[in-house]
Formats: sequence, structure tokens, C-alpha cells
Amino acid sequence: MEFQYRGNELYCEGVNLSDVAGRAGTPCYVYSWAMIEKRYRAYDAAFGDLPHTVCYAVKANSNLSLLRLLAGLGAGFDIVSGGELFRVLKAGGDPAKVVFSGVGKTAVEIEYALDSGIFSFNCESEAELALIDELAGRRGVQARIAVRVNPDVDAFTHPYISTGLREHKFGVDISEVEGVYARALGLKNLLLDSVSCHIGSQLLDASPLFEAIEKMRALVGRLRAGGAPIRHLDLGGGLGVPYRCGDEAPVIADYGGRVRAMLAAQDLHVMIEPGRSITGEAGALLSRVLYRKRNGEKEFVIVDAAMNDLLRPVLYHAHHEIIPLTKNGRPDITADVVGPVCESSDFFARDRVMADVQPGEAVAVCTAGAYGFVLSSNYNSRPRTPEVLVEGEAWRVIRKRETHEDLIRGE
Ligand code: LLP
Repeated sequence: MEFQYRGNELYCEGVNLSDVAGRAGTPCYVYSWAMIEKRYRAYDAAFGDLPHTVCYAVKANSNLSLLRLLAGLGAGFDIVSGGELFRVLKAGGDPAKVVFSGVGKTAVEIEYALDSGIFSFNCESEAELALIDELAGRRGVQARIAVRVNPDVDAFTHPYISTGLREHKFGVDISEVEGVYARALGLKNLLLDSVSCHIGSQLLDASPLFEAIEKMRALVGRLRAGGAPIRHLDLGGGLGVPYRCGDEAPVIADYGGRVRAMLAAQDLHVMIEPGRSITGEAGALLSRVLYRKRNGEKEFVIVDAAMNDLLRPVLYHAHHEIIPLTKNGRPDITADVVGPVCESSDFFARDRVMADVQPGEAVAVCTAGAYGFVLSSNYNSRPRTPEVLVEGEAWRVIRKRETHEDLIRGE
């Protein structure tokens, strides 16, 4: 594992994290490049000889340095905004390996994507198809389209990150998809040779993914019979990571192997859009204890990171393990870990059995590499944290800590 104790000191690869916390300051995000690379390569290897493209979901962690390194490995990218496209292009990503997802693409974003020559648009409504057809026509180009199908499969994950049921805003209901393709075949500026789905995120049990793939495989047959020359199938992201000590997450090699078996004879190029399972476990948020206090029966550990730096505990009641950068040998305590933001919802953990960390000591909030920094804000006029990348024995700042001047820029 890339985050591990050597003696009493927590290391990321060959770097002592107390050293990073001391020199880069806290709060601060730290990422392990070795782990991100390993995960990307695991996906690539798992699909083996099945024609495939791994399109990393940029939304999970969009730091330019990470995108640049992933692009160097040959990754494609799944984007959801013009801003993410800008990042991918700046990072040297290949536009021909970019898929554009999302229910609310604007005309400006679609034009930017057409002009950049992205691979395809994952479309979520007939109105969007009509707009892309019009904008592509004006440019004299054909836009590759994958209608995003809502396969009506329950992902059994947190309601905020479950997307594959009829009641969700995402995709086109599977019972209506054939009609959509039939009508869209009349739109001459669209190339309708792809289809996509994504049923949700943080799946610790992969069986709903296989259920969805089964439905998609059957759908591909029906679409082809209806005249749509389907060649590309995008399966979305969704594999979960073990946030809790003891959680078991799907193994990428097993997932890929099963997908390969299911889709081998289908003459399809398969695309996947993993985010969390590539960067999630590769990151931690380092934070220092400011104060300890007790209110009645309750013990509080007040740290210098807050909900604006890592929103997941508040937004999804997500569990993140919190461990000391230096083990101090004292018996564990039960405490709430809270930040300085003026909200009762500003917590990282409640009634957590954890190390007895005292003011001045530092902790790592684990598994924070995905949907961590990207969801951070300047709430309470808190400058956003730096991001640090570890590669072997070396580390460097890949995003500077914001200053007070940064806070008011543009006002
Ligand atoms: N593709 C599409 C179309 C998506 O909507 C998503 C995630 C992904 C791929 C990547 O999914 P992943 O492999 O990371 O599960 N902020 C939430 C997660 C939101 C996920 C949104 N969509 C969290 O912190 O749990």
C-alpha cells in the first residue's frame, strides 16, 4: 500500500507525511502517483484484448499535473464541462479520446467541444441531440453521439450518487431509447454509432453493473437491428473504494475480466469512465489539531481543515478514516472531529474511536483523492489548500495554497 506506517511515522510511498505537513503546511492534500498509475494500468490490463479506452472521469480530481501524467499513460478522459475540456487540453490530453457527459451542456460548451475534435457526446435528451445536430451542421462536421441510457438498475449506493433509476434526471429511459435513435437517424450531422450508461458511483458490490451491461448488450442488438450502426459502448464509471477499514471493494481485474467475457463476441469498442477507483485511495487530506475541548459528555478534536476543504462527510455522510501522522502510543479516545467553519455540519467524524491526538499533532483524513479538492470552496473566506504529489522519495506542490489576495480576485 502506498500509505503506510514505517515505525510510528505515516508515509506516502517513500515520503514521511509529517515532513510534508511541516513544509507545505496544513490543511493540504497529498496524492500518490504510484497508486494512480497502478489503478489506471489495472483497468487497461483488465480489458486486455477487448478493444477499449479508459476515459478517466476528470470530475473526481482535475489537477493539471495528474491529468498530464494520465495523458502520458495514454488515458482518455470523461468530461462534464467546458472547464474540464480546457484542463484536459492544457494537460496535453488527446481530444480524440474525450467523451463529453452531462445533462446540461450549453451551446458554447458544445461548440468548444466540436471545435476541439472530441471523440463523442454522451447525450441525455432529444433536445440536446437537436442542438448538437444544428451546431455540427453549421460547422460542416458530423458529431459522434452516444445516447446515455438509463437502464433502470438500482446501484444500491447513496441516493445522491445513484443515477440509474427512472426517477433520476439522467439518461433516456431504456424503453424509449430505440425510438430516440430511430428519430435521430434523420439528423444528418450526427453519427449514431455509440451508446452509453452510468448507473451510479461508489458501488461496493459490482453486480448491478453487470446487470446493466447485460441490458445494454441486448439493447445494442436491438439498436443495430433498427439501423443504428453501433460500434462503441460506454459503460460509465462506478467501482467503489474501501472508505472504512474492512470494506471490500470490487477488484478491477475481476470486473474487467467479466466485462470482457460478456462483450467479447459483440464487435464493440468498450469505453469506461472510472474516477474514484483511480484517484480515491491515492489521496489524503493532512490536517493539524488546533484545540481539544469537551462539552458535557462530548469530546471534540478541532482541526485546521474544514467542510469547505472536504465536503463528503457532510454531503453524503461519508466515512473517512482519520489517522495520526505520528503514532503517540496513548490509548484511543471517542470524539467528534470538527473544523473551524461556523456550521454545526462542519464535521469529519462523529463519535469516532480514534487516536488521542493533541494540539499540534497532525492527522490524515484518508481516501480523499477523489471528490475531495474538486468539491472544495472558499466558504468562510478560507483560502483553498495546496495539493502535493508524491513520486517515490520525492514530493512537489502541484497547486499552491491560495492567498487572501486570491480570495478577492475578480471582485
Ligand atoms: N461517468 C459519469 C457519467 C458520471 O456521472 C460519473 C460520476 C463517473 C463517470 C465517475 O464515477 P466514479 O467512477 O467516480 O464512481 N461527489 C460524489 C460522487 C459523484 C459522482 C458523479 N458522477 C462523491 O463524493 O461520492
